[in-house]
Amino acid sequence: MAAIRDKSVWITGASSGIGRALALRLVSQNNFVIVSSRNADALRQLQQSAPTRIRVLECDVTQDEAMDAVGHRLAGLTDNLDLVVACAGTCEYDDGLQLDAASYRRVFDANFFGVVNSLRAALPLLAGSRAPVFAAVGSLSSVVGFPRAEAYGASKAALGYFLDSVRADVSRLPLRVVHIRPGFIDTPLTRANDFQMPLLMTAEEAAERIEHGLLRGRRVIDFPLRLSWPLRFLGFFDALWLRYCAPRLTRIRSLRKS
Ligand SMILES: NC(=O)c1ccc[n+]([C@@H]2O[C@H](COP(=O)([O-])OP(=O)(O)OC[C@H]3O[C@@H](n4cnc5c(N)ncnc54)[C@H](OP(=O)(O)O)[C@@H]3O)[C@@H](O)[C@H]2O)c1
Repeated sequence: MAAIRDKSVWITGASSGIGRALALRLVSQNNFVIVSSRNADALRQLQQSAPTRIRVLECDVTQDEAMDAVGHRLAGLTDNLDLVVACAGTCEYDDGLQLDAASYRRVFDANFFGVVNSLRAALPLLAGSRAPVFAAVGSLSSVVGFPRAEAYGASKAALGYFLDSVRADVSRLPLRVVHIRPGFIDTPLTRANDFQMPLLMTAEEAAERIEHGLLRGRRVIDFPLRLSWPLRFLGFFDALWLRYCAPRLTRIRSLRKS
């Protein structure tokens, strides 16, 4: 079976969930994987599974200046990067349309600016690969406007535009830019959710779908298809979404604050 092998890879958000599962999968296929997040202990624990093929690079992707230094630290670990997966991210819901700007900023800092910072840190090393790939993890939630997801969904939609734009900018170059849009995955991020999550997948299944999509040369990797197709249909015919689906999902009954 085809697999990603013998590549030099950097994964952010690798201390748990999807990023961790992807790191373990790629490491088991003889790739050299640099793993990042803010939690050095969790990363070192991950490194125990393959001490020679995993390197730990602790960083906070929201820290602009520190991420410039991360570029240099990456160069100390590898001569080039074949694949970067910017997976670090967070979620905060806006309950009751509070429009708390600080919450929106936190979400955008991790989900949008974190990816910008990661690409900046990785670009010089991606330039050293013959077929470099930069992939970032968005979300199917950005396909339609979900209630309570004003900050999260907007940050992921902004990420989608950013990736489209980078793709256009590098269209004469070998760099492949990939937008990964998972549905609901069982990770620490979603375990706090107090609503039903249809077609919930494991992080290991998500990692498998991501690898499969990367191998097939996809620009956008959506999964599961049973969720992405209906959402894309509803995104196209958004009047249907607003008339039949959104009213069942929203918790807001009045514009007055309770
Ligand atoms: N789970 C889902 O259903 C789902 C669906 C669609 C998209 N996604 C996206 O998938 C990505 C991974 O999420 P997950 O579900 O695997 O959640 P998770 O288990 O909570 O993982 C999030 C990862 O991001 C890291 N991270 C968060 N903020 C960071 C920061 N400022 N700097 C560096 N690392 C940071 C966390 O590590 P530290 O806390 O150790 O720093 C952790 O490794 C996110 O972008 C998320 O939006 C998830």
